[in-house]
Amino acid sequence: MTQRTLVLLKPDTVRRGLIGEVIGRIERKAGWAITALELRHLDQDTLEQHYGEHKGKPFYEPLVAFMSSGPVVALVVEGERVIEGVRQLAGPTDPIAAAPGSIRGDFGTIVRENLIHASDSEESAIRELKIFFPGIS
Ligand code: PPS
Repeated sequence: MTQRTLVLLKPDTVRRGLIGEVIGRIERKAGWAITALELRHLDQDTLEQHYGEHKGKPFYEPLVAFMSSGPVVALVVEGERVIEGVRQLAGPTDPIAAAPGSIRGDFGTIVRENLIHASDSEESAIRELKIFFPGIS
């Protein structure tokens, strides 16, 4: 099942010089392809659209503040079962719970700075790709 997913390399990944490391892991997965890539600062409007479903949760404000603290790298990744696959590559939200070998398991320290966002379902991928890459979705 060929799918498309939205991946964001969060500001901690950019600040720590881990863009190449994380993208390398995605590229090494046979059958996946990066089909769009952009370094950008996210404005409040984009973040509200992207994380709107979490508004009101205790982590919403810290999350939005963190995501606007520096540039992110937004990617479109295409491939076989790529939605589930990139989530697996990333590991669980909390890096403490993430196994070594996963991106968060290898590099994550605290929940807020967990390096990577990846769409969690086909429905989310369609919605998020429209926000970040309206021209291609
Ligand atoms: S939920 O309520 O289960 O849907 O939440 P979850 O999927 O675990 O997380 C949703 C996004 O919020 C981020 N998050 C946090 N950010 C900052 N601080 C804290 N404490 C925190 N907890 C969760 C989490 O990384 C998810 O963002 P993305 O961009 O999808 O990784």
